[in-house]
Amino acid sequence: MISPAPAPLAPNDALDLYARTRGRTRALAAPLRPEDQMLQSMEDASPAKWHLAHTTWFFEEFILRPRVSGYSSPDDRFAFLFNSYYTQAGPRHARDRRGMVSRPDCAEVADYRAHVDAAMDALLTGGRDDAEEIAGLVELGCHHEMQHQELLVTDLLHGLSFNPLLPAYRDPQPLPVTQEVPLTFTRHDGGLVEIGHDGAGFAYDCESPRHRAFTQAFEIADRPVTNREWIAFMEDGGYDDARHWFMEGHAVATREEWHHPLYWWQQDGEWWTYTLRGPQPVALDAPVVHVSYYEADAFARWAGARLPTEVEHEIAFRDRPIAGNFLDDGPLRPMPGEGVWGDVWEWTSSPFTPYPGFRRPEGALGEYNGKFMVNQMVLRGGSCATPRDQMRSTYRTFFYPHQRWQMMGLRLARDVT
Ligand SMILES: [Fe+2]
Repeated sequence: MISPAPAPLAPNDALDLYARTRGRTRALAAPLRPEDQMLQSMEDASPAKWHLAHTTWFFEEFILRPRVSGYSSPDDRFAFLFNSYYTQAGPRHARDRRGMVSRPDCAEVADYRAHVDAAMDALLTGGRDDAEEIAGLVELGCHHEMQHQELLVTDLLHGLSFNPLLPAYRDPQPLPVTQEVPLTFTRHDGGLVEIGHDGAGFAYDCESPRHRAFTQAFEIADRPVTNREWIAFMEDGGYDDARHWFMEGHAVATREEWHHPLYWWQQDGEWWTYTLRGPQPVALDAPVVHVSYYEADAFARWAGARLPTEVEHEIAFRDRPIAGNFLDDGPLRPMPGEGVWGDVWEWTSSPFTPYPGFRRPEGALGEYNGKFMVNQMVLRGGSCATPRDQMRSTYRTFFYPHQRWQMMGLRLARDVT
């Protein structure tokens, strides 16, 4: 089955999307002091300042340099500092040393952003023959920047979590009054189904080709796993009982001394957690967040269930409108309810591998997803740190099974026998 090429974005819409996306990044960075913008707590996480510059470099490298004659960068060395992993775009700085780069400072990075914005504005309002092609690249650049918006806040949370004062990125908000939502399942017949991007609107290359897949009948939970359920797992000795775990997962959990999700601690007999709104009591009926694939899988086995496959997730929820708790003006933490979009990314049992017929695109942009298709697992559904503009039912994000710092949770599925 051949997937049609994604429908191109109209040039005017590209300008709107560009302005909206760049503006959101500026708003996310606005509460940060220069010192906050420097934090790099681990190799997987990057400083906010680097995200601000790297997303800017992306437009410069893939649009302005090749298409605007006479374009000049404020500093050609930025290409070395702010290229992430594109080997075909040239050499780059070490990923684990991004937090050591104090110059350019925050003001110079803000100037870099303004310089590229001005050049992009001139390009997008210039009425060029290649406007449609440019619009497609702008769309990719904006979706790329949206991915970094999510990383910016989740990397920041990780960085700030090492500060004993546990500063709040945004004002604390009172916890909602929560009510236990009963755990129910919806049955699906399965069979031969079609999944993947259908050609309407933007999608990454890894969401194509649309193709047939077979799935047995299954049941999938109507809401994600909650903190209340996770605490029951903990209190039942779930972390220590190797019967529930993959051997590799249990070895990691033992070595890392995992006894609860990331950012949790106990205080006066109550579980607390660190959030983008500072320390908060764990909301019992909100979806559990900051658990690895290994933990999610062990929980599911303990619960007499399993994680869904990505095929099951896609066919179960693709008709549900994309609405939910997203980054835009949201509470920045998962909220109780029956939502599927937003709140927490849901681990699936599917490895991030190419769909049948996938070919890596030529050139540096072909490195975007294709070279990561090994040893990572797919998560679906978006989170409270995902921009709403980015979400669609075919979206596949992917992380390594030991990673926990993203807004990662889970939903249960079961075989129908
Ligand atoms: Fe990137």
